[in-house]
Amino acid sequence: MIHTHTYDALVVGGGGAGMMAAIYLSRESRLRTAVISKLYPTRSHTGAAQGGIGAALGNLEEDHPEWHAFDTVKGSDYLGDQDAIETMCREAVDVVIELEHMGLPFSRTPDGKIAQRPFGGHTHHQGQGPVRRSCYAADRTGHMILQTLYQNCIKNGVEFFDEFQVVDVMLAEGRCVGVVAYEVATGDLHVFHSKSVNLATGGFGRIFSITSNAHANTGDGPAVALRRGIPLEDMEFYQFHPTGIYKMGILITEGVRGEGGVLRNDYGERFMERYAPTMKDLASRDVVARAIYQEMREGRGINGKRYVYLDATYLGAEVIEQKLPDIADFCRTYLGVDPVHEPMPIQPTAHYAMGGIPTNVDGCVVIDDRGTVVPGLYAAGETACVSVHGGNRLGTNSLLDLVVFGRRSGLHMAEFCLEADLGSLPENPTRDVAAELERLLSVAAGEPPARLRQELQDTMMDFVGVFREEEGMRQAMDKVRELKRRYEAVVVMDKGRRFNTDLLEAWELRNLLDLAEVTAASALNRKESRGAHSREDFPNRDDENWLKHTLAVQDVDGGVRIDYKPVTITQFEPKERVY
Ligand code: FUM
Repeated sequence: MIHTHTYDALVVGGGGAGMMAAIYLSRESRLRTAVISKLYPTRSHTGAAQGGIGAALGNLEEDHPEWHAFDTVKGSDYLGDQDAIETMCREAVDVVIELEHMGLPFSRTPDGKIAQRPFGGHTHHQGQGPVRRSCYAADRTGHMILQTLYQNCIKNGVEFFDEFQVVDVMLAEGRCVGVVAYEVATGDLHVFHSKSVNLATGGFGRIFSITSNAHANTGDGPAVALRRGIPLEDMEFYQFHPTGIYKMGILITEGVRGEGGVLRNDYGERFMERYAPTMKDLASRDVVARAIYQEMREGRGINGKRYVYLDATYLGAEVIEQKLPDIADFCRTYLGVDPVHEPMPIQPTAHYAMGGIPTNVDGCVVIDDRGTVVPGLYAAGETACVSVHGGNRLGTNSLLDLVVFGRRSGLHMAEFCLEADLGSLPENPTRDVAAELERLLSVAAGEPPARLRQELQDTMMDFVGVFREEEGMRQAMDKVRELKRRYEAVVVMDKGRRFNTDLLEAWELRNLLDLAEVTAASALNRKESRGAHSREDFPNRDDENWLKHTLAVQDVDGGVRIDYKPVTITQFEPKERVY
């Protein structure tokens, strides 16, 4: 059965970026706004961001948005667009106060101000040592942001369609006119006809086997955009967070190191002193993740295995219970390790996509190097690439990105919707999706999607992970293409309509395959090392040839075509990055 709904504005994704946009759409302009989300919004992955949101409030020591901007540009390995970074860091201060006024229960300093802690790559006086810039609510900052934004959406009358999965974006006559979604409870398709759409579906860490990302992070927004001809920007830049729980990938916040925890190898050595003499354990994530891999490769992993220790034992029970209660619970529950008394076994974990759907600072989707926008189509949060993170994101800038650009995209969408009409739907908008869902259900015997997904994740982890080189990436490309062929015969065991998560997982696998292919193709194409893209066959950054963004498009024959656009430099000339 097919249902049709009409709204002024539609947000796809109930995480921080989507809900911030929805608040601005509904509050400022009273537009009829709906959020469709494959999860209940308060279970969105924003909730997994633990350690804080970056803003130069200067509550505990001198700090300035300009210093924050410098650190972000340096962290990005000079690939971030500096005008966008300046906008984000300037608006950070105001947006954090706005969250406080919305009711977000931040931790406090003794005199009642928002508490702040150091985080990787955030410095005072542009590189002189760590500064306390991360505004936090214990180690539940993202969770608190979600709760706060959800309450405010409900207050503003935003309508939610929970457990609706986006399966297509409708583009007609040169603009966006809505999306098609699959209702998990019934198996019905829904056409959401709207003046504008904001894709804010989060990341796609599930292309890797060890990841901090939830099962749901399958890149549904970027995948539907890609299949409709929208390019994806800088997909080769994928962040590995240094500290995931060994073998499980569950995030152990950088806030542990912010509070004074240190990394140790098998000899008990605090090895980050050798790799980053000034910032040590609080160097940027790409630097720390590579250092951990290097220690493991050279046989200094714990007992020669592929993990090292994160040691927080001397912080004391009070600091751990008050400032890091969730990670203490995770370690006790999943590992039987009590971080008050024992070090935590950790390894780098796939965490965050710096790349995504290209947008300008107002969230408008931009498809080329001339700034051409798709009227009515927006993206925000991890789904988007503004680009404020360039080659490597600093911790705390993800929560910041999603509230700053969630807000800006909501404001711009509101202006657009006040002027625009509804636009015409394309002919038979559910045809392609319905045919693919029917095809998946009709396969009687074949391979289970889970087998292909595991092979994909292992391949990406081995060959397009922290370190990469030509031969491995070619193998990864071949493997992804083999898996795409085998996907034609995956079998969905559940043939029913209600809560058919088997069918959804097959659908999500298609998204993962498309995004993995673009990630591997973009990585293979970029012949330099920059930020999180670390090639052993091209170990140096090459500004002469590669100080440019990648734009990758899915060709009609299924291949990947690569184009470029320039990086915006304002005040910070590229130079060597040292921590
Ligand atoms: O380490 C963390 O708490 C993660 C934060 C982030 O990715 O920004």
